[in-house]
Amino acid sequence: MLDLPQYPWRLLAPYKQSASEHRDGLVDLSIGAPVDPTPRVIQSALQSAANWPGYPGSSGTDQLREAIAEWYDRRRKVPGLTKDHVAATVGSKEFIAWLPVLLGLGPDDVIVYPTVAYPTYDIGAKIVGATSVTADSLTELDETTRAKVKLVWVNSPGNPTGIVQDTQVLANIVQDARAIGAVVASDECYAELGWGTWEDKSIPSILHPQVAGGDFRGLLSVYSLSKQSNMAGYRAAFVAGDEQLIAALINLRSHTGMVVPGPIQHAMIAALSDEDHVIEQKSRYRKRREQLMAAIELTGLTVEHSEAGLYLWVRDPRITEPAAEDSWALVSRFAEAGILVGPGVFYSAAGNGYIRASITATDEAIDQAVTRLNAGI
Ligand SMILES: Cc1ncc(COP(=O)(O)O)c(C=O)c1O
Repeated sequence: MLDLPQYPWRLLAPYKQSASEHRDGLVDLSIGAPVDPTPRVIQSALQSAANWPGYPGSSGTDQLREAIAEWYDRRRKVPGLTKDHVAATVGSKEFIAWLPVLLGLGPDDVIVYPTVAYPTYDIGAKIVGATSVTADSLTELDETTRAKVKLVWVNSPGNPTGIVQDTQVLANIVQDARAIGAVVASDECYAELGWGTWEDKSIPSILHPQVAGGDFRGLLSVYSLSKQSNMAGYRAAFVAGDEQLIAALINLRSHTGMVVPGPIQHAMIAALSDEDHVIEQKSRYRKRREQLMAAIELTGLTVEHSEAGLYLWVRDPRITEPAAEDSWALVSRFAEAGILVGPGVFYSAAGNGYIRASITATDEAIDQAVTRLNAGI
């Protein structure tokens, strides 16, 4: 049996219990699951494709793959992709966890992922017995380690920090990875949710011409419709980039039955072709984010980065050398007000002292959180 760590969220259970005892009930800001309805245009497309007696192709239908390529061109400013550069995945989490297997990595290999990161990059390394190393640039690694790197994960906009990497930073990562023959996989699922200076700018993909130089070899962009389109329950995502890698991945995925159901593929086309619902959803999040951020800052806590995505990355500025307990102490302060947040320690030691507050809660829940925070925590 593979020896994988327990899901860390169970450690939150006691705080959930105490937060639930608040007289006006629990406000759960600990996870990033969408709460608003899946847009009608997507639901209708799903219903219209309900009759699907045969097996769907594991790469995605041609129509879906063309819609993905067109979306990269239109929304991500990445021209030049064809259907052969893209494949559908059953949500992006499975792809992230299984990519090391699909690439044939093993115990002699090193997988690099960001210093503060979504845990699934590490799980992927553990599945194949590879060594995982956290770094935000390959220049941070010593020569021996660097020589073993086969896969570099980028996550921009980042979860939990909300940091966005600009084209120059991404280009440097690509250049360094190419010099050692490593694949760069970039998890970009919050790319349509830029705030502040990123509000009206396209958040760069690893495939952007200024990053990839028009050459997709060794590069994979991973994107999900879970967040932008409230489709987390559909498990609808895709990967794009290196044509040869995509062909090999599709072959492996065909053999192992890792296939997006046909009606979901059809709904994905509707989601990718419609921008209105993304704008509408983003405006809901914008309002919630502004309300919650203002209320958190009023308590004297600091919101750091959080330039994009669905989270506020928060710490107590009075603590200069944070330890893991400081994250838990902050979780406890919020829990006393009946608000559940995630501890930064879930995302590595570099997250010590921080908490992550999600803006994926209903308007009513955010209003409640604001009222309670205004009363002081
Ligand atoms: C950084 C990051 N990557 C991937 C995922 C997984 O998304 P999904 O499996 O819904 O496509 C999430 C979900 O929260 C995430 O935060």
